[in-house]
Amino acid sequence: MMKILVTRHVPGNYLDGHENFNIQFFPGDGDIREWIISNIGDADGILVTLNEKIDREIIDHATRLKVISTYSVGYDHIDVEYAKSRGITVTYTPEVLTEATADLIFGIMLAVARNIVSGDRLIRDNGWQSGWKPGFMLGSEVHGKTIGFIGMGRIGKAVLERSKGFDMKGLYYSRTIHNVNAEYVDLDYLLSESDFVVIALDLNSETFHFMNYERISKMKKSAFLINGTRGKVVDENGLVRALENHIIRGAALDVFENEPVDSKNPLASMENVVMTPHLGSATYETRDKMAETAAINLFNVLNGKRPLYKL
Ligand code: NAP
Ligand code: GLV
Repeated sequence: MMKILVTRHVPGNYLDGHENFNIQFFPGDGDIREWIISNIGDADGILVTLNEKIDREIIDHATRLKVISTYSVGYDHIDVEYAKSRGITVTYTPEVLTEATADLIFGIMLAVARNIVSGDRLIRDNGWQSGWKPGFMLGSEVHGKTIGFIGMGRIGKAVLERSKGFDMKGLYYSRTIHNVNAEYVDLDYLLSESDFVVIALDLNSETFHFMNYERISKMKKSAFLINGTRGKVVDENGLVRALENHIIRGAALDVFENEPVDSKNPLASMENVVMTPHLGSATYETRDKMAETAAINLFNVLNGKRPLYKL
């Protein structure tokens, strides 16, 4: 009987009813990495999330592993090349989460530009004493502004589509030229012209700290930085410094260099920053589709069939 490790419970019942497999879940207490190392030796498959680092050390403990199925589109937590060199298939869940993530990214962009979160906080803190006033809590217009994308993959394209409903002018800089309704420009031009700079990059060896203090300093003083893809693409210390020095007007972030973050993070005390706890794909519908996709990927490889999405 083939053995499968599952590091976290995922929605739905897509792992049920597979009688030919011995499915073992992380019991929930103890160190998850230690549990993987102790149990992966004779496992045929593993279903992981982006929290679990599947590096050489873990892969070297596996003697018969055929598939690593990640419940995510990002795969920077897995040493994909090493896994492949050991004959292990790595699968992931692109496409099914693109629209939900784009909704969230557009949402935090609106929220930071129009003081939606700080306004809500003000009322809850009993801070709205003045009533309506002409100059009260003014934000930045979104409609008709310029949105610049760094990276133009699935999520970038989906955010761009939403921006068309707001009559925004689209610019992008990426590794590849794409057939999209936005102008391909060089990076410096994008940074100096965009009212909203949206990071739409995956994390890889070239994109680590891609958005550093120097690049942020090339943005307009009135612009916002939006990151809903991976925290480590932005040098967070550089971003904090840029915000402290009023180099840009604000930032909206769904992802952070080291997650989770709490109120001790300097970004948390800045009124011009909106932060959400890595919620991009967090809808009932999308998490269910991710669970279905990750399960099909896993069982297909183990049953000798093609997975839906492999790297
Ligand atoms: P994708 O389609 O692979 O898009 C990545 C984009 O980055 C592509 O346009 C790619 O260029 C570009 N890129 C990569 N390296 C580059 C470089 N060195 N220079 C310039 N451009 C570069 O991926 P996606 O589906 O849009 O997802 C992107 C990332 O979002 C995922 O990897 C994941 O980390 C993150 N994510 C976060 C959440 C969340 O909950 N917040 C949810 C889903 C995904 P090419 O066009 O040349 O390939
Ligand atoms: C979420 O961040 C993902 O990579 O799916």
